[in-house]
Order: sequence, then structure tokens, then C-alpha cells
Amino acid sequence: MARPGPAAALVLAAGRGERLGHALPKAFVELGGRSLLERSISILAESGLFELILPVIAERDRDRYEALGLSEGGLAPPVFGGDERQDSVRAGLEALPASIERVAIHDAARCLLSGSDLEAVMEASRRTGAALLGERTRDTIKRVVEGRVIETPDRRECWSAQTPQVVRVDWMKAAMAAATRNGRLGTDDVQLIEWEGHAVSMIEATHPNPKVTRPEDLLLAEALLAARDEQVRTES
Ligand code: CTP
Ligand code: MG
Repeated sequence: MARPGPAAALVLAAGRGERLGHALPKAFVELGGRSLLERSISILAESGLFELILPVIAERDRDRYEALGLSEGGLAPPVFGGDERQDSVRAGLEALPASIERVAIHDAARCLLSGSDLEAVMEASRRTGAALLGERTRDTIKRVVEGRVIETPDRRECWSAQTPQVVRVDWMKAAMAAATRNGRLGTDDVQLIEWEGHAVSMIEATHPNPKVTRPEDLLLAEALLAARDEQVRTES
């Protein structure tokens, strides 16, 4: 079903970044002179695809957020997230105005998202109601329980889930309410939609869209950013 209606983006930035082990909360760590959070917000704002961009931050980072002095078009005041990522998503959903029909949920830590991949996943969500960006797994995936391999799923069917994950707001709110009722915690957003029996479309990312998770990911992100800037320079 086509849903061309207004869309909002939730930018999830309420995590601690324990695996990154940086002195700052992860979303405020800088890459090439700008924080991961600023970079993610800019990409979403520059796309022109969103009526509203809603950052979800930890309450203790309120001053740090204000100090960024962001003024992108459509940027709403931040809402405060919770202990689990799903709690942060819930807080964001609750703050959306009733006019919003689709919501793109994005990790602030995926600050290299390309405009064309963002457009592709938004377009797919318009057609199907729920879509996410992802990439085919390069490694063979093993399911392992207590150190023992119990299954090797067909690699041709294995993908890594990324964000944005874009869903009709009515579906996402109903799925969140059901997950809360049943005490279920998804490891991503569309998992809640799958539990409700809706079909979810996978859109293959055509540009690197890594999540800064561990210290080495910052080095990788810096290299990717430098390569991208170099490409822009040679093309212009
Ligand atoms: N996130 C959030 N609220 C939480 C947990 C995570 O908004 N309670 C956000 C993070 O800020 C991040 C994104 O969800 O942008 C993806 O999560 P992850 O990479 O796991 O970030 P952290 O939870 O901050 O990192 P770690 O798990 O290493 O502590
Ligand atoms: Mg985490």
C-alpha cells in the first residue's frame, strides 16, 4: 500500500558506547571534527525527506546536546531515551505528532549513511509499509550455543541489518505496545514488526553504512570519510 504521507526520523543517541570505551558518550564522539550525532542529523535533514527530526538522547547528556547548538531545519527538541534501545525507540514514538505516518529509526552511530541509500529505503517503505537497509553477510554465519555449532544457515539468505529502519507509525506503535505487553525485547526495530506478522522489505545498501561500535570502527569510519571527501573533490 502506498503511504506518501509525512515522515519523521528518530535519531537514537541515548546509548553509552561501552564497547567504544571513549571518555565521551558515543554519539558525542567526533569524526573529522563533527560528532557522530551531528553528522547523522545533517544527513537526515539534508535529504529533505522528513517533516521532523527527533533526537533521542540520554537525560544526563542534555547539556552536552545543547552545547552542539544544532539548528537544522525540522529538528525538534530532544526527547530522553531509556536503558534499552527499545525503550529509547518507545520514547521517540510517544513524542511523534499525530500527523506523522512513517518513522525512520536511525542509529546516530551510523553517521556515514548515504543520501541515495536513505532515499531507497524511504521509497521502499512507502510501497510496503516497512523496510530496512542491510548488506549481505560476507562471512558464513554459524549459530552457536555454549560453544557448539548447531546450525549453518544458507549464506545466500543471510543479511546484516542496518538502519534506517522505516515503518508505518501505526504498525510500529502497535508492535511496540505488543512487545511491551509481552515483555519482548527485539535486537532491532523491524523485529517487532516481524513478530506482528507484517512483511518487511530488505534494501541492499550500496554504500558503506557501518555502525561505530568498537575503537577500530572509528578508524574505519575516518578512512571511509576521507575516501568519500576525496571522491567529491575529484568529481567537482
Ligand atoms: N541507543 C539508544 N538507547 C539505548 C541504547 C542505544 O538510543 N538505550 C542508541 C545508541 O546511542 C546508538 C544506537 O542506539 O546510536 C545503536 O546502539 P549501540 O551501537 O549498541 O550503541 P551503544 O548502546 O551506545 O553502545 P554499547 O552497546 O557499546 O554500549
Ligand atoms: Mg548498545
